[in-house]
Amino acid sequence: MGTAVLVLGSGGREHALAWSIAQSPQAGKVWVVPGNGGTHSPAQYARLNISDAQEVARCARELGAQLVVVGPEAPLAAGIVDALEAQGIAAIGPGKQAAQLEASKAFAKAFMHKYQIPTARYRDFTADQLGEGYAFIDELNGRAVVKADGLAAGKGVVVCTEAEPARQALREMLMEHRFQQAGARVVVEELLPGIEMSVFVLTDGKHGLLLPEAKDYKRIGEGDTGPNTGGMGSVSPVPFATPELMQKIQARVVAPTLSGLAAEGWHYKGFVFIGLMIVDGEPYVLEYNVRMGDPETQSVMARLDESLLEPLLVCHAGKLAGYSLRVKPQTAVTVVLASQGYPDNYAVGEPVSGLDVLPAGVVAFHAGTRSQEGQLLSAGGRVLAVTALDADPRRARDLARQAAEQVIYTGKYFRQDIGRDVLAD
Ligand code: AMP
Ligand code: GLY
Repeated sequence: MGTAVLVLGSGGREHALAWSIAQSPQAGKVWVVPGNGGTHSPAQYARLNISDAQEVARCARELGAQLVVVGPEAPLAAGIVDALEAQGIAAIGPGKQAAQLEASKAFAKAFMHKYQIPTARYRDFTADQLGEGYAFIDELNGRAVVKADGLAAGKGVVVCTEAEPARQALREMLMEHRFQQAGARVVVEELLPGIEMSVFVLTDGKHGLLLPEAKDYKRIGEGDTGPNTGGMGSVSPVPFATPELMQKIQARVVAPTLSGLAAEGWHYKGFVFIGLMIVDGEPYVLEYNVRMGDPETQSVMARLDESLLEPLLVCHAGKLAGYSLRVKPQTAVTVVLASQGYPDNYAVGEPVSGLDVLPAGVVAFHAGTRSQEGQLLSAGGRVLAVTALDADPRRARDLARQAAEQVIYTGKYFRQDIGRDVLAD
């Protein structure tokens, strides 16, 4: 009997985590709850509230799960891991305190400051400090990034190059409650010019295991235009992440982050997702997330040359020191298939087909899909993610694009240019 695993969430990230975990000879049943049309998800938990510790604990017990892996941030911020661990259920993810690294940007900035982790210069403000906020924006010559402190589903960040829009963003958040409570405190920081990438660390609270790095494509439109989304594609490895840059990231960002976590004494057995801006070859932290990224996970899991289950079990046992992860040298390219209109209004319930004829070397991860009487239907803004892996980065790109073409549903939209900027044409 292998280890039974319960993955919490319903997106492409959770499908990819479950896919990797299930590849282990040590794996037993792998469930995803609430799950989607592509995951192994018992129907009776389709409406389970994954932020409700009692509901999740009951589900884990009924399924006989020996390990719970938490996909998204909301249950982590709600303290799901503390609650599960208190009931003797092993869980991957940080406790509530450390989850503040994602749930509060001011908290994260204070942590970076305390442990001398390079990041943009900043200050944070509440409603009674609007004037001071304006003055700080002027000090930055208007080149300011205005961030709602709390969780705002990736929408609470406004990047400005002039003072007036920055003032307006600050005013809307602080005075007009644009992001409700999430905007009651606002971080204003200097705009860093550079190129973004993300690193992922699995930590047992003391030691860290670096997973393959990735780059995602947040904007809806070709050429990085239009509104931000949850992510429209990803690539791994990131060609500009040279060994020299990775060494700097390890020494200046990853090591102090891990020693900071240990020094604070927080419970943290889970993923740290570090969003970086590389400015003239130097890494700066833009943000911490306390979970994996979506769709970065799809590319990262495709590059593992072993199942994620072993590292997760070793992590939970607190024995990650010296663990060496096997990674494939090939390039993974992930293209997200969305519903027309996403990230605003879009239709759902469209029949989805074409998944049975995808090219070899491509995996389709489900996100907003559901299965109804044997028919696959769209059920969300991001419907699927197709991930191609190939030794030739260009071919990986072509394969992912080809697969994206082959999937059929009304209102399909995807970006044709995923990877174009970083992989040779
Ligand atoms: P965050 O949620 O803090 O990562 O911000 C979302 C996005 O805003 C990032 O992925 C960047 O594209 C952009 N961003 C955030 N902070 C900065 C900064 N200081 N300078 C430039 N761009 C930023
Ligand atoms: N793709 C960005 C995120 O998951 O936050």
